[in-house]
Amino acid sequence: MQQYSELAQSVKISHDKNNTLLDADHSLSLIGKGRSAYVFRIHSTNKAMKVFFPNHTHTAKVEAEIYQTVQSIEYYPTLYDAGENYLVIDHIEGNTLFECLTLGIPITEENIKEIDHALQLARKEGLNPSDIHLRNIFITSEKKVKIIDVARFKQVKSCNQWHDLKSAFHLFYSKSFFPKKIPSFILNSIAAIYKKRFLPI
Ligand SMILES: Nc1ncnc2c1ncn2[C@@H]1O[C@H](COP(=O)(O)OP(=O)(O)O)[C@@H](O)[C@H]1O
Ligand SMILES: [Mg+2]
Repeated sequence: MQQYSELAQSVKISHDKNNTLLDADHSLSLIGKGRSAYVFRIHSTNKAMKVFFPNHTHTAKVEAEIYQTVQSIEYYPTLYDAGENYLVIDHIEGNTLFECLTLGIPITEENIKEIDHALQLARKEGLNPSDIHLRNIFITSEKKVKIIDVARFKQVKSCNQWHDLKSAFHLFYSKSFFPKKIPSFILNSIAAIYKKRFLPI
């Protein structure tokens, strides 16, 4: 198999604001796109490669250091390699909370407690979990929690996102009248309104 660094180099992303994916080795399958990177599954492995957009490459080192800090905590993926613009971590089998909501897969009180615990353990390592939103939390096929995208866990500013998501879970989602399957455009609209409240323009 090719070296991880060679695989990462095969990923070509446009240097404009669209960050268009132009090319990638055939042993990489695209599984996700966030605000800073494309994520691929590496064929015939259970590993995922996160390749950062050209204007976010500096985040690779920051995120790798944070993953190192939480390696002993079972709720975070194992980090296998990191380079100038990429990370290699466990591929997570399961669904993000966002997917659970759009697919109608139930999210339980147990899951919420486990996420709380996972974040608490990161705090014990001196981190400040931030950017905790529906697309960065997985419920695995074994119904365990995994948290990804830890790049902002060292930010000083306090982040209320998880606190607000938990409140929404208890106030709305957990009630029997509340729908358990929610279309993605509704979730995206709620997220956009939420973001605006915190970033007044
Ligand atoms: N290890 C992984 N296993 C499975 N899917 C993943 C993994 N890492 C990321 N993803 C998918 O890719 C998306 C983007 O990854 P993420 O690390 O959050 O990038 P960004 O920093 O750009 O937000 C995630 O929301 C998720 O759907
Ligand atoms: Mg993310």
